[in-house]
Amino acid sequence: MKGKFITLEGIEGSGKSTSLEHIANTLDKKSIDYILTKEPGSGSLGNELRSLLLSSDNKISGEVELLLMMADRKNHLDSLVIPNLKNGIWVISDRYLDSTYAYQGGGRKMDVALIDELSSSLNLLAPDLTILFDLPVEIALDRAKRRASLDRFEKEPIDFHNRIRNIYKSRAEEDSNRIKIVDSSVSFEEVKAQVEYIISQFLNE
Ligand code: TYD
Repeated sequence: MKGKFITLEGIEGSGKSTSLEHIANTLDKKSIDYILTKEPGSGSLGNELRSLLLSSDNKISGEVELLLMMADRKNHLDSLVIPNLKNGIWVISDRYLDSTYAYQGGGRKMDVALIDELSSSLNLLAPDLTILFDLPVEIALDRAKRRASLDRFEKEPIDFHNRIRNIYKSRAEEDSNRIKIVDSSVSFEEVKAQVEYIISQFLNE
């Protein structure tokens, strides 16, 4: 692929969405062409899947949730991510496959072998860089709760979110070349500095 694929990951309220802006500014300064996107929910099919998945009115089993997340991802990859990367345009995605390992594998306790199998049969592309925004669940949920309304995931108990955080951290340990951790318990300015450092290291590789 000519473009680079960067993904942002973290628990609810970890500040990854805010950091999209800093990444965009850094890439602008280097005159790199990019698009910003997110999962779940890109394009008209993705938007429908997103509202199904996030609505608290829906009772969805862990298996169905996993399959819908994967369907959204395959659609996102084929319709947006891969065509842009092929054209040399970088893609920055707010969440991707690590979210499925963390949320459906960790949070919902789904079989990790099934996620591995789906991921390899669907030929899911590995990101070139993943930034994991990490902080204690209590602080993150407190931030998330200040937002207007809570979605189906945000309403889950603290243990659910702790399992998600733990999976993220162990994946980052196992794949430290790809996944870089940002300590997002610190101030806004300090998070920004960490993100800028990671991007500049990546650009120099
Ligand atoms: P969103 O509003 O985008 O949340 P955030 O700002 O925290 O990213 O909602 C996305 C939700 O979907 C979030 O709670 C995580 C969840 N999710 C999964 O459970 N599995 C996945 O594979 C993905 C991509 C997201």
